[in-house]
Amino acid sequence: MAGRRGLTTLNLTFLGTASAQPSSTRNHSALALRLNADVWLFDCGEATQHQIQRSNVKMGKIEKIFITHTHGDHIFGLLPLLASRLNGAGGTADGVEDPRIHMVQGDPIEIYGPLGTRAYIRNGLTYTHTLLGAPYVVHELRLPSDPSDGDHTSLPPHVSELPNGRNIPQTNGVWPDVYHDNIVSVAAAPILHSVPCVGYVVTEAPVPGKMNPVKYIPDLKRTKTAMSVMSRLQQGESVELSDGTILHGPPRRPGRKLAILGDTYDPSSIAELASSADLLIHEATNAHLPTLDPNTKVEDTFESVEARTKSRGHSTPQMAGAFATRIGARQLVLNHFSARYPGNDHIDPVAKSMMEAIARLGGEHYGGKITCARDFMSFDVNIPEEHV
Ligand SMILES: *[C@@H]1O[C@H](CO)[C@@H](O)[C@H](O)[C@H]1NC(C)=O
Ligand SMILES: [Zn+2]
Ligand SMILES: [Zn+2]
Repeated sequence: MAGRRGLTTLNLTFLGTASAQPSSTRNHSALALRLNADVWLFDCGEATQHQIQRSNVKMGKIEKIFITHTHGDHIFGLLPLLASRLNGAGGTADGVEDPRIHMVQGDPIEIYGPLGTRAYIRNGLTYTHTLLGAPYVVHELRLPSDPSDGDHTSLPPHVSELPNGRNIPQTNGVWPDVYHDNIVSVAAAPILHSVPCVGYVVTEAPVPGKMNPVKYIPDLKRTKTAMSVMSRLQQGESVELSDGTILHGPPRRPGRKLAILGDTYDPSSIAELASSADLLIHEATNAHLPTLDPNTKVEDTFESVEARTKSRGHSTPQMAGAFATRIGARQLVLNHFSARYPGNDHIDPVAKSMMEAIARLGGEHYGGKITCARDFMSFDVNIPEEHV
């Protein structure tokens, strides 16, 4: 994967934004991150492949899949998606005779997730006799309390599973290097939920600084230097001219940083890795909306709703906002909503007032921009002007 080209586009598309129950306006969790044409998925709930078909995310471009935790609403869509993405077919019980079994070739899909991700995929593919036309590999983020090696299943690898899946141990309580190439890197940390859960931080390598070409032109003209050195300066290089003058390109500036969290009631462990993220995606499963939500119980208060939400492993908008402030995030996207909170707020005024109220609650402890995710919401993450 060495030699990924610089990122012109970094685009996020929400494919599913529901918590436990999907509703008529939200499907189960999945998020597509597009790095130019390549697609990375974060979580893969039920019906993710249908959502992909209905979006402009290209199934064939999925390169990596990051799973936050193995709760069904985040992983039930993975096996059918792999079968489609890797040209799967139903096999026979004695599949060794099946000619398609020899088609395992091409670049593997790389899947990352906590302990159990590999076993879940292996068992699901094996017992459904699913054949894949291309390989996959699973890298697991192992906690100190997990076995440090082994596959967590007694089944042998599926015929399409490559044997080089890593079991990545923690360093100082985090996974600082889950993946990296020359342009982008991924780190992760455990975040607290009712089961082991992971948050991911995607960081773009430093990008060329802001260039003011006018500044260089007199020197280049005087020394009759080809204007083409401008592109080297733009990359931050220093260039020595024929008369000994040295021109320095603008220093590189930080690339973009995205923190994509799974379900959590306390993501403290990822605070340092996620610090100054340009975008924080944080769940907000439940909120106290006394006048707007007809399901509100008379005895409910902000405190009781928050205590109940936490006890189930989840967060309120206020908790998400407080965490965004703590890490100095530039923007917050709330995600993973209870079925009570409709996702058609762009067309329905009642839904709109509800989602606006949720965003306002997030803003009680956070001054930056807050967006409530909805299915098929898509936007580019740009390098902010302030990155100097
Ligand atoms: C959720 O997925 C199902 C199955 O593809 C689809 O019928 C439904 O319209 C989707 N709902 C939303 C809100 O996208
Ligand atoms: Zn969930
Ligand atoms: Zn969960």
